[in-house]
Amino acid sequence: MVKLKWKKQKQISNKVSVESWSNYSDLICPKIINKFIDQNFLKNNEFLNFLKKIKENWINKLIWGDNLEILQYLLKKFEEKIDLIYIDPPFFTNSEFYHKVFIGTSNKSFKKIAYNDKWNNGIDSYLDFIYERLCLMKKLLSEKGSIYVHVDWHISHYIKLIMDQIFGLENFRNEIIWYYPAASAQTKRFYVRSYDSILFYTKSDDYIFNDDPNIYMDYSKRVKNAVQKDEKGYFYYRGGSHDGKKLSRKVYVEKKGVFPRDVWTKIPYIRANTLEYQGFSTQKPERLLKRIILASSNKNSIIADFFCGTGTTLAVSEKLNRRWIGCDLNWYAINTTIKRLLNLQHSNDILNWDEFYGKFSNSFEVYSFMSDEHKGKIPELFLINNKKTNSKKNEKSNLKINVNRDDNRIKLSLEGYFFPYFKELNKKIRTKISDWKDSIDYFAVDFNYNNNEFVPQWISLRTPKTRKMRFNTGWYYYDKARKNNIDILVKIIDIFGFETTKKVSIILRT
Ligand SMILES: C[S@@+](CC[C@H](N)C(=O)[O-])C[C@H]1O[C@@H](n2cnc3c(N)ncnc32)[C@H](O)[C@@H]1O
Repeated sequence: MVKLKWKKQKQISNKVSVESWSNYSDLICPKIINKFIDQNFLKNNEFLNFLKKIKENWINKLIWGDNLEILQYLLKKFEEKIDLIYIDPPFFTNSEFYHKVFIGTSNKSFKKIAYNDKWNNGIDSYLDFIYERLCLMKKLLSEKGSIYVHVDWHISHYIKLIMDQIFGLENFRNEIIWYYPAASAQTKRFYVRSYDSILFYTKSDDYIFNDDPNIYMDYSKRVKNAVQKDEKGYFYYRGGSHDGKKLSRKVYVEKKGVFPRDVWTKIPYIRANTLEYQGFSTQKPERLLKRIILASSNKNSIIADFFCGTGTTLAVSEKLNRRWIGCDLNWYAINTTIKRLLNLQHSNDILNWDEFYGKFSNSFEVYSFMSDEHKGKIPELFLINNKKTNSKKNEKSNLKINVNRDDNRIKLSLEGYFFPYFKELNKKIRTKISDWKDSIDYFAVDFNYNNNEFVPQWISLRTPKTRKMRFNTGWYYYDKARKNNIDILVKIIDIFGFETTKKVSIILRT
């Protein structure tokens, strides 16, 4: 694997100090705000404030919930405002898809269902599902907007007909073939399937499509090796043929490569040994999204992915200075996306893949259309006798926190995590967790909690690549003139997705 180079120094917030940064994924910025939307939200004043805020100061949005509800909600504000939609929905595969959950710093892991692509009422129910969502997406697209729908042989021909009906045959631009060599050929009864289709439609004939040097495809090795520069600085190679005879005339070419064709062959599928790997089996490569985003949006365009999974579209939009909205039904996908964005500085630079991106992501808000009980779930397979756990109802999980105070600064350490369902885990999984620390995946602290929004200034987390995390924060400095009573909220998320919070109230100066 290529050894990645650091491009920029890490930034440290001036509010919190840490002694050493090496080998950890923790950070202090960006700002992440968690919000819960209740059913009355759209009706009351809060919604008006929300709209006002968007107008004044954009902040990227990650939303947890069913995209049907979310699309209807977004229409109130974003009708004809979104320049690019990329979706990678379930493909009607009749399968379950998994993600890998890693435990502590070891290489132990277990698999958990990420989403279910089984349709009890067959293809009709799938087509109903996708049709109503695509109709809403069309309304959200700007006049210059584009939509890319990522599918495969299971459903692509049906989706094509639906898209023709909704967007108009005249607005169909390409069927992009993303070819990837099949990992294992398990059949000799038909040809091995080795590509996905991405259907590209626009809202109108006047759409954004940029001739950007970074979307170009590489020349073949032969042409690449033969390219020379003439006296005026133009690039050419010698070649061509006429009447079966080889010529040696100059063939002028653009140095940056060839304008992209609709068959994309050089983008590898995600492998577990890559930096971008998030543990999901259906994760798509960032370099696939790079070409789509550069071609079909401008800086500052709003880009949306309503089946965002591990947040690939959002991460690439962020790196290319686009604004974004993402949503997913699965809490674990949202959780993974949050961690991926918070850890963006350690990922590949999208324009120089062999370098680290090196910058923090911009602030983003996390909205929730779901209730907390949908957050954590232990697969029944991991419970004693495969029984459903009900410990959440009886016993509460708890955190042991130590507060260290010194004049106008405070730091915290996490000393213990009690999770009642631990005793309900079967031996197979229990033996993989040797310490309470092994079960923790994310630790965040809001040193100025205001009872409404959780806005952590300190976050430490594990990713599939960076397993170490910190359990003690750096010093947080309060203004000297600060009021006496302060609420601090500590939040942890464990490897099963359960979230536990604890409020610590302190008197800063007496
Ligand atoms: C193929 S995956 C997307 C993978 C993503 N492109 C990536 O790179 O990680 C499909 C996602 O759609 C989500 N999903 C399925 N039904 C949904 C719904 N009704 N609303 C929102 N998300 C949904 C699933 O939870 C899953 O994460």
